[in-house]
Parts: sequence; C-alpha cells; structure tokens
Amino acid sequence: MQGKFISFEGPDGAGKTSVLRQIQADLEDQLGKDRVVYTREPGGDRISEQIRQLLFNAANGDMDGRTEALLFAASRRQHVISEILPDLNAGKVILCDRYVDSSVAYQGAGRQLGEKEIWQLNQFAIDGVMPELTVYLDIESEIGLRRIAEHRSDQVNRLDKEKLAFHQAVRQAYLRMYHNDPDRIKLVDASQPLDQVITDVRQVIHTRYPDLF
Ligand SMILES: Nc1ncnc2c1ncn2[C@@H]1O[C@H](COP(=O)(O)OP(=O)(O)O)[C@@H](O)[C@H]1O
Ligand SMILES: [Mg+2]
Repeated sequence: MQGKFISFEGPDGAGKTSVLRQIQADLEDQLGKDRVVYTREPGGDRISEQIRQLLFNAANGDMDGRTEALLFAASRRQHVISEILPDLNAGKVILCDRYVDSSVAYQGAGRQLGEKEIWQLNQFAIDGVMPELTVYLDIESEIGLRRIAEHRSDQVNRLDKEKLAFHQAVRQAYLRMYHNDPDRIKLVDASQPLDQVITDVRQVIHTRYPDLF
C-alpha cells in the first residue's frame, strides 16, 4: 500500500494535538501500530529537535524574524529527510502536526515577513514533498488563546505569548490558504465540542482516502 501524508494545521489551541491523539489511536486499531506515524513540526528527529529548542526557548525573545523563518525551514528539511520520506516510502500513514502552512501563517503573516516569501523559502526545504491532504482546524483566535490559558498555561511557548493581533493575522492567512487551495486544504470547525471535531476530521480523511475509517 502507498504511504499517505496528512498534515494538521490551525492556530494554537485549535485542538490539533487532542484530535490527533484520537485519530492516531483509531487508525492504529484499523491498520496496526507500525503503519501509523504521528510526528510534529518542527522537530521529531534529534537535529530538528535541537533547532526546535532554539526556536521556543523563552530566552531567545530577541531572535530576528528571518532567522526564525530560516530555522523553521531548516528543521523542516531535516524532518522531511529523516522521517517523512522514509515513512512515506515504507507505506505508512503520516499524521503531521503542523507543516509548511504554519510557516506561511506564523512567519509570513504573523511576523509580517510576507506569505509569498515564506512559501518560496520553504520550497527549497521541502523540495516537492507536500501532503495530499491538510486538515485545517479553524477557530477564532480569542477562543484558541482562552483554551491555552485555561488548560495549558504551564506549556505556553514564546510564540503563544504574541499579542491577539498576531494570532488574528495567523488565522487570516490560514483562511486565505484554504480559499486558494481547497483541493488540498479541508476546513473543520474547531469551535465545536471535541467529539464533534474528531468526527468531522474522520469524515474529511475518509472522503479523501475511502480505505481509511
Ligand atoms: N473542541 C474543544 N473544545 C474544548 N476544549 C478543547 C477542544 N479541543 C481542544 N481543547 C482543549 O484546548 C487545549 C488546547 O488543545 P490542543 O489539542 O493542545 O490544541 P493545539 O494542539 O491545536 O494547540 C487543551 O487543553 C484541550 O483539552
Ligand atoms: Mg499542539
């Protein structure tokens, strides 16, 4: 069977990690544990995890925006080579928590480095490796931020601390990408109760891959 590469996108607090936990368990039940991989952006392997630590370290608040964008792209490149391509070639289903759209949204729009520029920068890093399906969990920035503040305040990272306007710009960029590429990107309303979000995500995956779920 051919590998499948599915990315999950959305603002902080949209529920990506919560949804993926259940989707991963369901797919493992169906296909077997060795056929399903959860991985996250940035990082996963040793080298990109080291880059991740640089990016999210609270002491690096003075990091230049382009430096940040280049580090995300570098980490992505390493992740593609060490995990995504080998798993795809092994016929696995890859559930990727954030990918290139996150850079376009966070660095391109949030940091105002330019969505097109960040997209182009990342083409060098990914070299044509794109998910066939991207599940975008859409949520109003206020609700996403409130969820994080209420449940995950111990895990707030450097990017989570940005102002509301930053997060609103991120969401607008996601919505633009969704409108520009509706074949790849499928929107799920993440403001619903978690069970309903998971049901909708299952349906989106099943529609693209009828042999899943
Ligand atoms: N649909 C939902 N309704 C209410 N709370 C949710 C929902 N989805 C996630 N949460 C809660 O919001 C917080 C952030 O969820 P998480 O899955 O970590 O989001 P993300 O990975 O997208 O940042 C968690 O505490 C989680 O329990
Ligand atoms: Mg998460």
